[in-house]
Amino acid sequence: MTARKCIAVILAAGEGTRMKSATPKVLHTIAGRSMLGHVLDTVAQAGISEIVVVIGPGREDVAAAICAQAPNAHIVVQTDRLGTAHAVLAARGAIGTVYDDLLVLFADTPLIEPATLKAMRERLVGGSAVVALGFEAPNPHGYGRLLIDGASLSAIREHKDASDTERQVTLCNSGLMALDGKKALVLLDAIGNGNAQKEFYLTDAVTVARAQGLATGYEIAPESEVMGVNDRTQLAAAERVMQDRLRRRAMLNGATLIDPKTVYFSYDTRLGSDVVIEPQVVFGPKVIIGDHVEIHAFCHIEDASIAAQASIGPFARIRPGSQVGEGAKIGNFVELKKADIGPGAKISHLSYIGDAEVGADANIGAGTITCNYDGFFKYKTVIGRGAFIGANSSLVAPITVGAGAYVGSGSVITKEVLADQLAVARGKQMAKDGWGSAFRATSEAKKKALKA
Ligand code: UD1
Ligand code: MG
Repeated sequence: MTARKCIAVILAAGEGTRMKSATPKVLHTIAGRSMLGHVLDTVAQAGISEIVVVIGPGREDVAAAICAQAPNAHIVVQTDRLGTAHAVLAARGAIGTVYDDLLVLFADTPLIEPATLKAMRERLVGGSAVVALGFEAPNPHGYGRLLIDGASLSAIREHKDASDTERQVTLCNSGLMALDGKKALVLLDAIGNGNAQKEFYLTDAVTVARAQGLATGYEIAPESEVMGVNDRTQLAAAERVMQDRLRRRAMLNGATLIDPKTVYFSYDTRLGSDVVIEPQVVFGPKVIIGDHVEIHAFCHIEDASIAAQASIGPFARIRPGSQVGEGAKIGNFVELKKADIGPGAKISHLSYIGDAEVGADANIGAGTITCNYDGFFKYKTVIGRGAFIGANSSLVAPITVGAGAYVGSGSVITKEVLADQLAVARGKQMAKDGWGSAFRATSEAKKKALKA
């Protein structure tokens, strides 16, 4: 089948008014990637490199998102929304007659999997000119219904056009369709708009094909794979399905998730082997985790890489641009931002380390803060290999602490500390013998005099 030429047309011209959003519906995200982005990726994973996306007029934002992810995809604009067949025909120039298979996908049906696209194409190979993708719906209201006769498809009836008997049918149309690429334009051009909504229905490709004596078929997918997203409750439902997939994939690839339902992945989270993830961990986009890393409970990690054997959290926040070296320890209530932490370094408690480099095996004491921002600009802190920063120190950037240096606890360091130096920058401790008892005696006498 790989020899067959395939083109995918993704419909993304809908207005998505039910999202009640300034952002176009298809750019709303699931697991950190837009719905349209998921569909583009699925098509690519299915080995289809010819892609056309049909967008609405004035949607430069959608066009920009397509260019960023799939620069080879063609973009066409459907100016008037006259129905799903009309939308596919907006891609007429790209479809032509050179492809064996034409797949039509919806950008608001983001959970579709490559294997299902493959199965639909197999039915084209089997001789069908039109293949619909159906699903069993416990509540079919509103969907088009697949009217079948054994393995062949007699018609798809839109809910608004269906008779009472046809409305009893629970096998619904997902909307996705595969068509014989050589015949697609002829079929689509023969579709009229004599129906309840005065729209050109893609679904009518079935009756048109049958009238021409062509075979039509269908494939069935689980509802969770073909659910459409029209409002934010459905967006949340799609997020649940996607998160369950990502959790399952992580576990099957060798990660331990102690309470999977409480771990949230990004579509691109990469985990090494034997990673342990405790409950309540959230991954933003662009995270790479090495082998044998332990992520303790309640961590938030985004755009960061964590090398093998490192230990993170509980309660750590790893912000964008951070790298944690092999075997390093990032403990509780530690925030990293754009920080490069060397192998074996320890930042065990209550620290903010931002715009910083921390050398291998350095020890950063509890409560250490890199003061990286003056309200206008950000400055860098460099801490050398094996340095020891005493607890509750402030390192005022730009600043360098040399390798093997010691900073006394409670210091406010504003000048460079050279390698192997001890730097202490805090008020000197003074001591007055008997001060406590003398203070109490005068204070008690004062209080007595006021009461008298
Ligand atoms: C469609 C199917 C229906 C199926 C349902 C599944 C048709 C005629 N009906 O109905 O059988 O059960 O999906 O959700 O196909 N679009 C455009 N331009 C248009 C019209 C639509 O780009 O002119 C896009 C929409 O953005 C959307 C998709 O096509 O992504 C489907 O359109 P929609 O209006 O939602 O079709 P339904 O009435 O839901
Ligand atoms: Mg719809």
